[in-house]
Amino acid sequence: AADPLGDARGRPLHDLRISVTDRCNFRCVYCMPKEIFGRDFVFRERSELLSFEEIERLARISVSLGVTKLRLTGGEPLLRRGIVDLVGMLAKLKTPEGQPVDLAMTTNGSALPVMAQQLKDAGLRRVTISLDSLDDEKFKAINDVDFPVSRVLHAIDVAREVGLGPVKINTVVKRGVNDSEILSLAEHFRGTGAILRFIEYMDVGTTNGWKLDEVLPSSEVVAMVNKRWALEPVSKTEPGETANRWRYTDGAGEIGVISSVTNAFCGNCSRARVSAEGQLYTCLFAGSGYDLRALMRDGISDEELANALAGHWRKRDDNYSELRAALTPGNRKRIEMSYIGG
Ligand code: GTP
Ligand code: 5AD
Ligand code: SF4
Ligand code: SF4
Repeated sequence: AADPLGDARGRPLHDLRISVTDRCNFRCVYCMPKEIFGRDFVFRERSELLSFEEIERLARISVSLGVTKLRLTGGEPLLRRGIVDLVGMLAKLKTPEGQPVDLAMTTNGSALPVMAQQLKDAGLRRVTISLDSLDDEKFKAINDVDFPVSRVLHAIDVAREVGLGPVKINTVVKRGVNDSEILSLAEHFRGTGAILRFIEYMDVGTTNGWKLDEVLPSSEVVAMVNKRWALEPVSKTEPGETANRWRYTDGAGEIGVISSVTNAFCGNCSRARVSAEGQLYTCLFAGSGYDLRALMRDGISDEELANALAGHWRKRDDNYSELRAALTPGNRKRIEMSYIGG
């Protein structure tokens, strides 16, 4: 790649988020509400999913175009059979400069205790684990499958022990649901080396009944934590990073806030997403994707596929979060979070 690849807004392609399954064993109310994702919901058939070879191929070509970070998502990525083998395949990829890629995963942690060591050995660098509350009753009301907090905390410990770190913890904050948990979560993870990130509840998909008044602005989260333990801002390390970082002035580590609603970060968004069935999305809020599976199954060459990907990226002009306020909610087709993995 002689010419650096930029989209219509001049943004480079640095991250590829790969969803490996649309299934999950949780039914988080803001992501896979049971009324929609119930017994009758039809998930993708195995034959519809990209094979590991197809995923590796897409990742390899993306890396040749400038991608340096790969993140495996779901649904719940650890539910995909053979996931450790896929990690092994992706961990071998090298950037054009000969550097290994940064390979991460976002998981609910439920299967992590039994798989963490194998994942680490296969080459996974780090994990982000979701946890919305330390209170069992509240957490179970959110995951809606009776999953206890203790098992996620155990998963976090195991991830840290095997060196899948620094471990990040994702907490989606919903006003009136778990905003009361912010300080206990901060207290729990202070000084542990884990990086807790509070995420503004987003209007992803069309099934979670999102309302603006359920969003607790990150500024309020930061104010709340800062009142208890003084914080100071840390500059972003990577361009296009989702989180604004804050460090405890007493040296107990850092937290992050992801403010896609109150402080959109589209300006330097360098992420592409591939669904489990091989649709490429250039925005989390995109209405439709670009069918890479069809191209691959039609026998496209590596060079043609690289050109197709690059051409698609060059046309990209998405900036949904910057426009959100101006768009009428509800009348726009959008993919679901569980389908694209965040
Ligand atoms: P790191 O590189 O480890 O910081 O990863 P990350 O923050 O990109 O990954 P993670 O999967 O932990 O994402 C955190 C949250 O940010 C999730 O809720 C994502 O949906 C959200 N997020 C990530 N990328 C974007 C984005 O491009 N746009 C918006 N609006 N939200 C995003
Ligand atoms: N708003 C914000 N974050 C969400 N996540 C899932 N649904 C939403 C939503 N509507 C989070 C998950 C996970 C990450 C990938 O996205 O909790 O941590
Ligand atoms: Fe599953 Fe994550 Fe969605 Fe919860 S937020 S239902 S754990 S994919
Ligand atoms: Fe990127 Fe779309 Fe999120 Fe903006 S809304 S940061 S363009 S994924």
